[in-house]
Amino acid sequence: MKIIMLGAPGAGKGTQAKKIAAKYDIPHISTGDIFRANIKNNTELGQKAKTYMDKGELVPDSLVVDLIMDRFKEADCANGYVLDGFPRTIPQAEALDEALKASGAKVDFAIDVEVPDENIINRMGGRRACVGCGATYHVEFNPPKQADVCDTCGQKLILRDDDKPETVKNRLNVYHEQTQPLIDYYQNAGVLKQVDGTKDMNDVFTDIVDILSK
Ligand code: AP5
Ligand code: MG
Ligand code: ZN
Repeated sequence: MKIIMLGAPGAGKGTQAKKIAAKYDIPHISTGDIFRANIKNNTELGQKAKTYMDKGELVPDSLVVDLIMDRFKEADCANGYVLDGFPRTIPQAEALDEALKASGAKVDFAIDVEVPDENIINRMGGRRACVGCGATYHVEFNPPKQADVCDTCGQKLILRDDDKPETVKNRLNVYHEQTQPLIDYYQNAGVLKQVDGTKDMNDVFTDIVDILSK
């Protein structure tokens, strides 16, 4: 099963993608997480990506597409995957379609997690991410057992650099300009499914499982 998560920054793509990956035993591939791991390890790719990410801009398509094509070659992708944060532009979606077509495959579901902009800024300020395993929490909606400590691996939880309100506003603008057109793109391809992302995160997941099991 090949699934794409669509939605604004903070809509809950990562939260839901992790649950989907666990239930269907497919890898969760987040381009944002891959870039953040590269920044942490101070790789050349990380240094390039950071200059864009800190401003809330998109990393250039060429960098992202090469990275994801390499990731698809890994053995765990044989039964599909859930993509989180890719594609994010029409050229990225076209590159994905072309790569899939070459192997006779296609995207099965594009799940758009819908959350109005007003809710987003609030969510981002409360998000905490683990520096060790990448797990995500929210101080109000999904708090860790102990403040600022990861339930899973015990490492420290931090506020992401790009979750400051000014940067979030720019990320939302970039989303509306460059990523939202993908909703029509996947609607036209007949694979778009929309879910109400303002519900409780477990209810959002129930709605997604309903869609995937049809
Ligand atoms: P990326 O890491 O993909 O960030 P994003 O799309 O901005 O999305 P987020 O990770 O911020 O949000 P999310 O939807 O995953 O929400 P989450 O589940 O955490 O990308 C970062 C940057 O990398 C980009 O700006 C760009 O520069 C670059 N990049 C990445 N991919 C790229 C690409 N393909 N092309 C070019 N550049 C690229 O949830 C948010 C918070 O809300 C959490 O605290 C969570 O606990 C909480 N929450 C979740 N669901 C609910 C709910 N239902 N109710 C209440 N709270 C909830
Ligand atoms: Mg995410
Ligand atoms: Zn952790």
